[in-house]
Amino acid sequence: MTIIKKIILTTLLAATPMMAQVKEKIEVPYVAFPVKMGKGFETVQANCLMCHSFGYIINQGRQSRAFWKGKIQKMIVHFKAPITDKDAKIIENYLFTHYGNGKEK
Ligand code: HEC
Repeated sequence: MTIIKKIILTTLLAATPMMAQVKEKIEVPYVAFPVKMGKGFETVQANCLMCHSFGYIINQGRQSRAFWKGKIQKMIVHFKAPITDKDAKIIENYLFTHYGNGKEK
């Protein structure tokens, strides 16, 4: 066997396991969050989604107005989210309308 043939053979053998892996169909899990559009959504998008995905919000489930108000305040106080009082109110109403449980407290 010539040295060239040896090189080609070892290269092919080395590449085989990698090719076997690529043959498998790679599926990236797709998580569809049911994001509800509507009045105030742009404000949420502009103020909340700069740091994390909408999943953080939706994963809380349906909650009271006080809960959402508290979360918005937490973002402002603890994480320094630059949200104006006006926007905070719009977001609170949006979250309570779409992800609220009907209770004020
Ligand atoms: C400045 C960055 C920033 C902005 C802007 C921001 N958040 Fe967060 N948020 C965070 C961080 C950091 C966490 C905690 C992440 C962790 O614990 O892994 C978080 C977590 C959360 C959680 C999960 C529950 C909890 O108490 O930790 C919710 C709900 C949430 N954010 C809602 C919002 C909403 C609603 C807005 C818009 C009003 C918003 N966030 C804007 C940084 C931000």
